[in-house]
Amino acid sequence: MVQPELSIGDVAARTGLSISQIRFYEDKGLIAPPRDAGGRRRFPRAELRRLSFIRIAQRLGLSLRRIKVALAGVPVDRAPTPADWTLVAEDLHAELTERIEVMTRLRDRLEGCIGCGCLSMKVCPLYNPDDAVGAGRPGAGLVERP
Ligand code: FES
Repeated sequence: MVQPELSIGDVAARTGLSISQIRFYEDKGLIAPPRDAGGRRRFPRAELRRLSFIRIAQRLGLSLRRIKVALAGVPVDRAPTPADWTLVAEDLHAELTERIEVMTRLRDRLEGCIGCGCLSMKVCPLYNPDDAVGAGRPGAGLVERP
């Protein structure tokens, strides 16, 4: 028999998240499980997918703030439909594509740096791609610059 609602322990077991992670997501406003008369969290089954999405989105490097924005349109008063999740995917598509492109560039540039190790501010493409910094301002950490 399928339970209509799950305890936080059930959700942890199903998602692979720890109970403290689930509470943390609640503290951050990413989930808002209703409480029963005893004050215990009772998770609608649809929350499993929301929590799994949060976990995956974090692994993709999205911030909790960004994930919260992405989830803002996903209803909490009913089970989200595939159309609801499609909207989330469309919202994140461009951002994820850009992240993939950045990571691809970093991977390709890293190959030239393996064995070098200088991390030179002047020549290392990881720190200063195409000497972009030299043209305008001082600084480092331009890893994500195209
Ligand atoms: S580590 Fe030397 S060029 Fe990047």
